[in-house]
Amino acid sequence: MNSLNSTPSQSPLKVVASSPLPGSSLNALKKVSNLIVLNPSHTAKELLTACRDATALISLLSDPIDQNFLENCSSLKIVSNYAVGYNNIDVATAKRLGILVCHTPEVLTEATAELTWALIFSVSRKLIEADSFVRSNQFKGWLPDLFLGTELLGKTLGIVGSGRIGRRVGEIGSAFGMKVLYDKEHPFEEVLTQSDVLSLHVPLTEKTRHLLTEKEFKRMKPGAILINTARGPVVDERALVQALKESSLGGAGLDVYEKEPELQKELTNLQNTTLLPHLGSATWEARTQMSELACEAVRLSLLGQTPKNRIPEFKND
Ligand code: DGY
Repeated sequence: MNSLNSTPSQSPLKVVASSPLPGSSLNALKKVSNLIVLNPSHTAKELLTACRDATALISLLSDPIDQNFLENCSSLKIVSNYAVGYNNIDVATAKRLGILVCHTPEVLTEATAELTWALIFSVSRKLIEADSFVRSNQFKGWLPDLFLGTELLGKTLGIVGSGRIGRRVGEIGSAFGMKVLYDKEHPFEEVLTQSDVLSLHVPLTEKTRHLLTEKEFKRMKPGAILINTARGPVVDERALVQALKESSLGGAGLDVYEKEPELQKELTNLQNTTLLPHLGSATWEARTQMSELACEAVRLSLLGQTPKNRIPEFKND
C-alpha cells in the first residue's frame, strides 16, 4: 500500500485521507479515528483498496470517485472533497448509497479570484513573454513599442458563472474601471460577444462541458482574452488552440485543462498564453482553511452530526 503513515487509535473507525493536507487539521482526526494518509501519487486501485473498509474519505479533486468505487466501499458514510468543485464524484450514486458528500466552499473564493486576476494581468500585459525576454538577456534598453499590452479601464469583463468566485472577480473588475457583465444578468450570447476579457467560473456539469467550442470562439470579440480557472472540460481545448493560432483570440490564461494534467501540446508553443498548474486555491490561507473544513466535516459525521458544508444536492436532506 502506497501510504505515508497509518496511525492506529482506540476507535475502530477508519478514515482515509487521499493525501497529506496543509495545516494540522488531520491531527484532530487522528485522535478520533484510525487515520490512513495516502501518498498523493497513489493509484485509483490503491485508493479503492484503502477505502474498502473505511467509514470516511477525504478525497482530492483528482480522485475519480465513481460508481464502481462507491459501490465497492460499502462502509463509507462520507466523502469530504478537498475542493469546492466536486465533478470527480458520482453524486447520484453517493445519494443512492446514502454516502454524504461535502466540499470546501467560500474559503477559497478570494484565492481563486486573485489568481484569476493574476492571469488577466499576465495575459493583458504579456508578463510571461516579457519575463523570459529579460531572463534570456534580450533586454537592451527601453523602447516605445516593447511588449505593448492592453489596458483594462473601460473594457468589458464577462463573467460566465456568477457564483461566489465569479462575483468576486467581477467586483475586482469594477474597481479597475471595467464594465462587468454577469451571465446571471445578461444572456450568455451577450456576455460571449461583448467581452474583452471572458472569465469562466462555472462548475463542470453535463450542461457546461464544452460550453466554449469553435462556434463560440468565432462569436467572441477579435482579440478577446479567455481566462479559465474553473474546470478544463468547459472549454474545447483543441478549438481554443486553433482560435489562438489564428489570433482570433488575443490570448488565454489557463489554470485548468481538458485532460488534466495533460494539455494540448501546441498550447505550450503559443506566446499569448499563461499556463498554470491548477493553482486557483493555492494560498496558505485557503488551503489550511480547506483542510479545516474537510476534516471537520469528517469529524462531525463520525460523531453522527450533520456537517454544514454539504454539497447543494444534500442540503435538503
Ligand atoms: C476547487 O476547489 O474546485 C479548485 O479547483 C481547487 O483549486
